[in-house]
Amino acid sequence: MVIARPFRPEDEADVVRMRKVAFGNQSPDWATPASTWWGVVAEDGDGVCGSLRAWNYRQFFGGVAVPMAGVASVTVDPHARGRGVAGALLVKSLERMRAEGQVVSTLFAATPPLYRAYGWERVGALETVTLPPAAFGWVAKPGEPTPLRRAREADLAEVHQLYLDIASTVDGMLDRSGPLFDITKILTLDTVDVVDGLRGFCSSSRRPHSETLDVYDIVARDADAGRALLAALATWSGQVDQICLRRFDPLIWDLLLSLPGHHTTAVEPIMLRIVDFAAAVAARGWPEGLPDFAVDLDIADEHAPWNAGKHRLVHESGKTRLEAGGDGEVRMTARALAAWYAGAATIADLNRAGLADGRAPLLDLASRAPRRLSIADSY
Ligand SMILES: CC(C)(COP(=O)(O)OP(=O)(O)OC[C@H]1O[C@@H](n2cnc3c(N)ncnc32)[C@H](O)[C@@H]1OP(=O)(O)O)[C@@H](O)C(=O)NCCC(=O)NCCS
Repeated sequence: MVIARPFRPEDEADVVRMRKVAFGNQSPDWATPASTWWGVVAEDGDGVCGSLRAWNYRQFFGGVAVPMAGVASVTVDPHARGRGVAGALLVKSLERMRAEGQVVSTLFAATPPLYRAYGWERVGALETVTLPPAAFGWVAKPGEPTPLRRAREADLAEVHQLYLDIASTVDGMLDRSGPLFDITKILTLDTVDVVDGLRGFCSSSRRPHSETLDVYDIVARDADAGRALLAALATWSGQVDQICLRRFDPLIWDLLLSLPGHHTTAVEPIMLRIVDFAAAVAARGWPEGLPDFAVDLDIADEHAPWNAGKHRLVHESGKTRLEAGGDGEVRMTARALAAWYAGAATIADLNRAGLADGRAPLLDLASRAPRRLSIADSY
């Protein structure tokens, strides 16, 4: 008999032991302030045999930062695997997320079938692109160079605001708020360069014992600022063999950087679950200019039964809400609901996958499907 219950401080030794076995490392950050996370453990007759942790994050959807539970460190003792322990942890965690007001949950999955079985679905990725420094030489514009300078402590509030202004336009990005994110830590990196007038910044560190530069963020308000930051990366030619950047700012990635035909992208898929459907609809932003509509949905969700049943999604005078009732015109599983909310799949494709049944083109208009979420922080 397996019981899942809240993590208590006296469980720490068991959790650290299990993490070491599962992931091959200790977990020094298990001591981070309790306000930033909560945990669930599973017990069988022999004691604690499984655990997970959920971080308190906020993630942008439609320009609004939505409370999100970032699930990590899902671990089951080897002797207890294959008996539903991880499933029990996930089901318990859904109850806690709902109680905490974490209306959606995302995670980086080493074992996607486990999370799909409990309603998470792949919706995007953290992408890291590796390029030779010479690839950045093609962005400079002839004429006056745009001056860069080192960031100072007094710049940090504006640096964070610049990050927020751009990140809020990219669904899936974290708002990096709260005690988990200390903006002053950015100054411990090798370089944080800003464009005069705080029109852009680039943070990076040389990777120890490697001819690699890791760029953490490269963000710009305008094209000249973006070009200046990218062109500065070309100056690493001869010093490093490769520059690794996390994909994020659409101006930098899609419009300024000339990606060579052959390059390597590391993709870490991210999966999303809708924890509380009505609250998740209310919490996020929706595209401007949507026509008024009402679509009746019938949701199957055995692990979060409060989401299950018939609902009407109503968009009226620029506001979107979920009401109980309707005739269930479009049927969706929990996985389909996640993919739809993120815009990661069209309703037609969800039908083809056997995850939805029924058509309503306005659902795709509302979710702006098909597209992919981006995130630039791992956990
Ligand atoms: C992955 C892990 C947590 C699964 O724990 P578990 O208690 O054995 O999982 P459950 O018995 O609850 O499995 C539920 C479903 O998940 C899926 N699943 C379980 N382990 C899986 C694995 N290693 N890979 C892919 N899918 C898996 C199966 O679909 C399973 O359903 P089934 O038994 O009907 O086929 C456990 O093997 C573990 O601790 N592994 C090492 C750490 C790890 O990889 N953690 C995940 C990080 S994202």
